[in-house]
Amino acid sequence: METTTSYLGLRLDHPFIAGASPLGYRVDTVKRLEDAGCAAVVLHSLFEEQITHSQSDRIAHLNVFESDFAEIVSAFPDAGDYPLGPDEYAEHVYRVKQAVAIPVIGSLNGRTGESWLRFARVIEQAGADGLELNMYNVVTGLHVSGAAIEGHLVEVVRDLKRLLKIPVAVKLSPFFAALGNVARQLDGAGADGLVLFNRFYQPDIDIKTMTVSPQAELSSNAELLLRLRWLAILHGRVQPSLALSGGVATPQDGIKGILAGADVIQLVSAILRHGPAFVGTMRRGLEQWLEWHKMASLDDARGAVSLKTTGDAGSFERAHYIRTLHSWTR
Ligand SMILES: Cc1cc2nc3c(=O)[nH]c(=O)nc-3n(C[C@H](O)[C@H](O)[C@H](O)COP(=O)(O)O)c2cc1C
Repeated sequence: METTTSYLGLRLDHPFIAGASPLGYRVDTVKRLEDAGCAAVVLHSLFEEQITHSQSDRIAHLNVFESDFAEIVSAFPDAGDYPLGPDEYAEHVYRVKQAVAIPVIGSLNGRTGESWLRFARVIEQAGADGLELNMYNVVTGLHVSGAAIEGHLVEVVRDLKRLLKIPVAVKLSPFFAALGNVARQLDGAGADGLVLFNRFYQPDIDIKTMTVSPQAELSSNAELLLRLRWLAILHGRVQPSLALSGGVATPQDGIKGILAGADVIQLVSAILRHGPAFVGTMRRGLEQWLEWHKMASLDDARGAVSLKTTGDAGSFERAHYIRTLHSWTR
């Protein structure tokens, strides 16, 4: 059974990899992931705020002259609350690389295109096989346009590609008006991979204290369908390889991701819930399914239900929406 896949130009035995999370904090955990059969690992992110704080005692974009500076700064963790500082992160990448044979992908997480991004070179020099860029941002400014945000993201990717030799994946938000066009622009900027999608942690409101209360919960496969739709729309129509991140809870979910067009399936919540051995469950589920369908290789299944393969735009666009609304019966 041929389950090999290629992600960011890296050849992997199968498509199941660990996504950015605390699973990357410790060398021995990464080793356990490898022993359990994980095909690659994305380490937890190093944040822009950590890098700028250590370089210049300043937190990224924040302006000391703003009246609410102190309040905003206090909302960020203290430098010591992060698992690893920037130099330690680079050292960690090096130590993980020494300990395991599977590809190790570093992760940078920020929102500006400033000098902190040069730290990507340090991660590369530490031996990372690739870099995942997560430009997590919730734009609250009322004067910032979508085009400006897109242009900025594309520029950052272009700069990173100039800086690095290792491949770069971009972890995307689903909240673009024309995501296909953003994917195409990132393709043009040289992105080697697109990760669909970043998961936004929505602040809840505590009605007792009337304050915002942060919620960090593991995902469920209710989040999967949004990813499947966009994988299916993008598969075979842009160059970068495609990673699914979010809502893969069962082997069936993984198979759906492949059918939609994913090159790799990133797992976080499922591994945190069931432990590293769950990767083996995912892989066996996929192999049994391929065998059942008499498919000799993963390539036979990948993208079989994508827009490009089926040519059925109606399933992914407005026609399906109307059909779905009309299918409701009491
Ligand atoms: C506890 C926790 C920590 C995470 N840390 C990061 C991180 O450092 N960087 C990042 O890009 N994503 C991070 N994520 C998001 C995951 O990489 C992933 O995109 C998200 O959990 C959806 O995948 P899942 O449904 O398999 O959990 C984190 C998720 C969890 C649950």
